[in-house]
Amino acid sequence: MAQAPAIVSETAQEITIGELHKQINRPNNLFILDVRNPDEFESWRIEGLYTPETLNIPYFEFFEDQEEVVNRVPYGKEVIVVCAKGGASDFVALVLEEHGRQARNLTDGMIAWGEFYVIRPVVETKAYQIYQVERPARGCLSHVLISEGKAVIIDPLRHIERYKSLLADKDADLELLLDTHAHADHVSGGFALQEEMGAAYYLHPYDGIHPFDMMPAVKPYNMLADGMTFELGELQIRVIHTPGHTLGQVNFLVSAPDGESYLFTGDNIFIESFGRPDLGGQGERWAPVVYETIFGRIKNSVPGQAWVMPGHYARFDEANDDGLFIKRLDDLWVENQGLQHADRDEFIGYVLDQLPKMPQEYIEIKRVNIGLSQPDEAMTSELELGKNICALSDAY
Ligand SMILES: [Fe+2]
Repeated sequence: MAQAPAIVSETAQEITIGELHKQINRPNNLFILDVRNPDEFESWRIEGLYTPETLNIPYFEFFEDQEEVVNRVPYGKEVIVVCAKGGASDFVALVLEEHGRQARNLTDGMIAWGEFYVIRPVVETKAYQIYQVERPARGCLSHVLISEGKAVIIDPLRHIERYKSLLADKDADLELLLDTHAHADHVSGGFALQEEMGAAYYLHPYDGIHPFDMMPAVKPYNMLADGMTFELGELQIRVIHTPGHTLGQVNFLVSAPDGESYLFTGDNIFIESFGRPDLGGQGERWAPVVYETIFGRIKNSVPGQAWVMPGHYARFDEANDDGLFIKRLDDLWVENQGLQHADRDEFIGYVLDQLPKMPQEYIEIKRVNIGLSQPDEAMTSELELGKNICALSDAY
């Protein structure tokens, strides 16, 4: 009797970025095979709290001695194959399957990783709710606050559909868009949300001027000032000018009706470390300003029990057991290594010793964030490649 022909699948089995993200944030038995070119692999890769062992073998090597190349992949683990868009990795996953390996292709590759967001509730009471919006590929955080059906987004990120779905789910109207500063590492969603949803976008006017070009913003925004307050349902929001990372950076201190307070720090104090002072090209001048902000303004005016909600993280283990990047300010005065230099001169020396290289893309991203440049989607994705480098280098 003739044997039935083997069924050859045309595409490899796939895994979505959502499923992969879940798996790499708990102990797992995965192995990541990244088949992009080495320079792309060096600039960024998939990571989580439990990043699997990862190997880079460019896909074209699988056109050569397949047996030899496949043998470089260890046995006994499920292999997740990753490329830029999910095409070349599909081919490699099929090659692995043909050699008897268990392999899945990451659907849409690094594009999916770059656009992946996780939204977690921080607090959900009858009077108010706060959600932390995480973009793991960039280490970016933003926050949505809702009270009495009204919403504010602090540091909105670029993929604005995520916020629109959350607000629709929660039946909340967007009233305010607040940026802690003009970001250098990622494109803000502030202007896009202002245009689409009609909510007022606020930025401090010092950050409405490009620090290198000295050109003013060409898109309309409302001006933040120290001491300004907003009411959002039962929440009170107070603006505290916190210069140093940028000259126009502010923090938002939010008081809730249950007595809790939340300090949205942007790139001022993080869970580990704090924001570098040199992204405007003025590291030596602005390092003392960071000192005055942290050990003067914040220490003297923000209650220690306030929850710090930062704009970035450098490591996944900065999150608590619920995956939230949040800690009381009093704990950070003790635990945040960057804050252990309370002497002014020692602090400034420490900061200037810890400045990572500044990516050139950051100058252009700052242009985009005040409307001076309007790149298309492909160019914007390229500008945003890799993790943020907004903290001092010992945070990495
Ligand atoms: Fe920043």
